[in-house]
Amino acid sequence: MPNLRLARRVGRIQPSATLALTARAKALKAEGKDVIALTAGEPDFETPMPIRQGAIDALHKGGAVGRYTPVGGTPELIKAVIEKFRRDNGLDYKPEQILVSCGAKHSIFNAIGALIDDGDEVIVPAPFWVSYPEMIRFFGGTPVIVDTSASGFVLTPEALRKAITPRTRLLIVNSPGNPTGAVWDRQAQQAIADVVAGTDIAVISDEIYEKLVYDGAHVAFAGLSTDAYDRTITVNGVAKAYAMTGWRIGYVGGPLAVVKAMNALQSHSTSNPTTVAQLATLTALKNDPKELPDWRRQYQARRDRMVAGLNAAKGVKCAVPGGAFYVFPDFRGWIGRRHGDTVLLNDAAICEALLTRALVGGVPGGEFGAPGFVRFSYAASDEEIAKAIERIQRFAAELV
Ligand SMILES: Cc1ncc(COP(=O)(O)O)c(C=O)c1O
Repeated sequence: MPNLRLARRVGRIQPSATLALTARAKALKAEGKDVIALTAGEPDFETPMPIRQGAIDALHKGGAVGRYTPVGGTPELIKAVIEKFRRDNGLDYKPEQILVSCGAKHSIFNAIGALIDDGDEVIVPAPFWVSYPEMIRFFGGTPVIVDTSASGFVLTPEALRKAITPRTRLLIVNSPGNPTGAVWDRQAQQAIADVVAGTDIAVISDEIYEKLVYDGAHVAFAGLSTDAYDRTITVNGVAKAYAMTGWRIGYVGGPLAVVKAMNALQSHSTSNPTTVAQLATLTALKNDPKELPDWRRQYQARRDRMVAGLNAAKGVKCAVPGGAFYVFPDFRGWIGRRHGDTVLLNDAAICEALLTRALVGGVPGGEFGAPGFVRFSYAASDEEIAKAIERIQRFAAELV
């Protein structure tokens, strides 16, 4: 057998914990267990028919749908992205400042790849989306994690100031956020923008949950000032807003030099995102689907039910998240308690016990840089949510 040595850079990363836990919950389900998997960050709604129909029509027509497009997207789609940024966010971009990629995850990967060298530091507020630190490490950078759990999951200017060093190249912000659902208001984001103003620090603003805000309003970081615009790569996509996770389309608007470098990187990896998915996205971006307000209402009602249900479980504290479709309750009250013969030592043990004994899947907060918390997605049916709450409450009552 040859000794196939793996690259050091892959040794620095771990597989996605959320995808792994989702797969585990699905496997238990396949074994016939009545598991409620609140693990995945995926809308449970169908991609709206007009979006699918746009793709079906293009497939029937043939021709361009089976061909390469320019690396960063078709001119029509780039125009639609520019219009979206102008309409929703008041941001003005030229076509060369836009890049369409294979999901927002790919957009962020390209952006970090274009910006980060060995030894560069990237400030990542915690709790964070699991892929940020992994991507940073993959590209040789160092994630500098700044805990926000004591300030309502909002990065304070003081904490940010303390984390900045001469090696800081990039700050990642994500409102509404995964895993907390926290929505950072204009004042909070302005305070952050003021700290980085005048520096050479780039900002990735991951706004993938923009359309899922229940309290307050979405704020585009790049819209805060000319200075913020000049340093910010605004990331968005179709997955969460339009129930299009499988279509794999994300996009950015940002500083010309950065987007050009991202485009070059993409030109040697995926080339253009799948042509038929670009055509479907064109329909989605031209007009928000008519279903969106109703989805938002349903998510909000589920959120309220989840928060109330969790707070009624002994030892659990759950803040009300303003957006996305996650709750991020504090389970530290369960640590050290016993369920039968098992001591709940940490959030991983809590999630393991909840999955195997209560048949409810959640993701340990430690995976997001917040040990003692658990993330549940409420992109699930009303019945599933009701059942999950009942099971968690019953489990809580059984703890000694
Ligand atoms: C905060 C955040 N950013 C980006 C993504 C990636 O989205 P996409 O499916 O478009 O790659 C996700 C998906 O889970 C997310 O939660």
